Amino acid sequence: MDRDEILRHLPDAFPWRDSLYWFDTIDSTNTRAKQMALQGAPEGTILVADCQTGGRGSRGRSFLSPAGVGIYMSVILRPCCSPEKLMHLTCAVAEVMCDAVENCCGFRPGIKWTNDLVYGGRKLAGILTELSVTPQGMVDYIVIGIGVNCLQTEADFPQEIRSFAGSLQSVSGKAIDRSRLAAEMASALYTLSRDAVSRIGEILARYRTDCVTIGKQISLVRADGIIRHGIALDVDETGALVVRLDSGAVESVSSGEVSVRGMYGYL
Ligand code: BTN
Repeated sequence: MDRDEILRHLPDAFPWRDSLYWFDTIDSTNTRAKQMALQGAPEGTILVADCQTGGRGSRGRSFLSPAGVGIYMSVILRPCCSPEKLMHLTCAVAEVMCDAVENCCGFRPGIKWTNDLVYGGRKLAGILTELSVTPQGMVDYIVIGIGVNCLQTEADFPQEIRSFAGSLQSVSGKAIDRSRLAAEMASALYTLSRDAVSRIGEILARYRTDCVTIGKQISLVRADGIIRHGIALDVDETGALVVRLDSGAVESVSSGEVSVRGMYGYL
């Protein structure tokens, strides 16, 4: 996979062609994209790497990003709106990434709330969205980072995540063309950049059908370690998870407040 191979799968008229940057190795495409955004890089700046030495995940975790087996992509968006209008964005990104995988790989993953792509009980991809706000309270830039496990075998994953990590190739048994998938992902992000605010209802309706968390018994884990149990009922228009707790109370929880575990494992 390289820049030319990705561009070969995109139409000549693809508006973000000239702002696609390729890196054999980088610390983190999200970190670099934030630096570029601060220096004025426009909406549609896309960074794709074959390998990250400091890949970052959500909640301060690292994201393993070995060479030759994954796609590590970040894109800069600059929507003219307040951050409140984009509460659902991270769900919307997961939803359009399911479209990209389905178009390219012939199967549709599910989504573990908020934005892990999963299949057969295994995590295939993760998304890290980072946002900067102007002093006037408007969005300055958003960096959306997506890491996809494409070609790993089970033995490639470290022991601690082996039971719940997977790759597109290992769960589907099909050969995966990383360049083609990277092009599908860029194309899906372009569509999202136009639709994220105007078609929020439609995108969230589709998200709910893909979200495997809804209807499940779950544990809600707070940063302070407090764990509560309940059943996931829905995802609301802000992307928050609506949960009926074992106490009977119904609460909406945001991904910033809690992480979710299935009662009997990762999902
Ligand atoms: C998660 O599952 O916790 C989110 C993982 C996000 C990883 C991607 S890879 C491309 C971009 N650059 C990073 O450093 N992180 C994101």
